Amino acid sequence: MRRLADLGDLRGRRALVRVDFNVPLTGDGPAQVADDTRIRAALPTIAALRERGAAVVLVSHLGRPRDREPELSLAPVGRRLSQLLEAPVRLAPGTRGPAIERMAAELGPAEVMLLENIRYEPGETRNDPELAADLARLADVYVNDAFGAAHRAHSSTEGVARLVPERAAGLLLEREVTTLTELLREPVRPLVAVLGGAKVADKLGVIEAFRSVADTILIGGAMCFPFLRALGHPVGSSLCDEGDVELARGLTGTGTGAELVLPSDLVIAERLDAGAAATAIDGVDVPDGMMGCDIGPATAAAYAARIRSAGTVFWNGPMGAFEIEQFAAGTRVVAEAVAASSAVTVVGGGDSAAALQRFGLADRVTHLSTGGGASLELIEGRSLPGVEALA
Ligand code: 3PG
Repeated sequence: MRRLADLGDLRGRRALVRVDFNVPLTGDGPAQVADDTRIRAALPTIAALRERGAAVVLVSHLGRPRDREPELSLAPVGRRLSQLLEAPVRLAPGTRGPAIERMAAELGPAEVMLLENIRYEPGETRNDPELAADLARLADVYVNDAFGAAHRAHSSTEGVARLVPERAAGLLLEREVTTLTELLREPVRPLVAVLGGAKVADKLGVIEAFRSVADTILIGGAMCFPFLRALGHPVGSSLCDEGDVELARGLTGTGTGAELVLPSDLVIAERLDAGAAATAIDGVDVPDGMMGCDIGPATAAAYAARIRSAGTVFWNGPMGAFEIEQFAAGTRVVAEAVAASSAVTVVGGGDSAAALQRFGLADRVTHLSTGGGASLELIEGRSLPGVEALA
């Protein structure tokens, strides 16, 4: 992977920088960025390029547009970026064509331009070579800092990288890849993986990867029910896919690898909504008509103790439906234990990052990944097309 420092003299040159500005926007009134973590995370790379005299052309996707929906415009992102940079950011009206090429050509040193949502182009997700060629025409060097989109082989993450004369990883992408790779290679022991979320199938590769390198895997979230069911416990109406029960049986069956720890108590309710009454039960047998919505207090305390004595912690996936206050305690206890730990603490993006933000703990971990799917694929040992293209 080539690094930013490997790029030659950038004075008077244009850098096309793929960033992941796929951020949540506020729903009401004029759209605004609701969480600017991903924008802030790209600032060091943008600053480094501007300091070296490059003009910066930023390209990102936002959401998954089907038909150029105006609510998925990057305009609010451009405004937030401009505030953070304390410099103007020119928002291009599109992503390709002569007018956009002229705009890019007119940029002076250290000036910044943001292309419109690259997924407004239907060719982007097909890795269309013509779109990649149009993007390549906008710049002399290509920098990929979009770790969150590095598992996608799209025109702006993969195709274009092969068409520009010089390319490099941005500082964020480099840090993400290094941290997540080192975590598996040489962890300070014991390595404790805390895995939650809804489906075993989504985390199968990650569980298998940790099975061979971690010391302990703590399972929470709805993902615990297929495991509990495989051990013969009734799960009531909890989320529990039949296919996942088979996968869980396969994972619990082998006696080798990391110790797999399951909840010993639960918080249950009739329904998963804010109006439902929550009940903590001893044990994990969920009665008919009830569903598991969070790990119980004894489990949360036991998981926190394991986290406290860890040398390295990796956390991905909430322990319960933390968006609803009466089901948030398990995730909060785990988040607080991760934040208070003196271990190396790495948190995969997505919901666990959102949970840390919600509890005000996002700046209390060693590394908070900006990538959800990308961080999991890297841990599974899969190669990321966006990273491969920088070789
Ligand atoms: C993410 O939010 O995980 C990344 O921006 C990738 O988005 P995608 O899943 O729509 O490709």
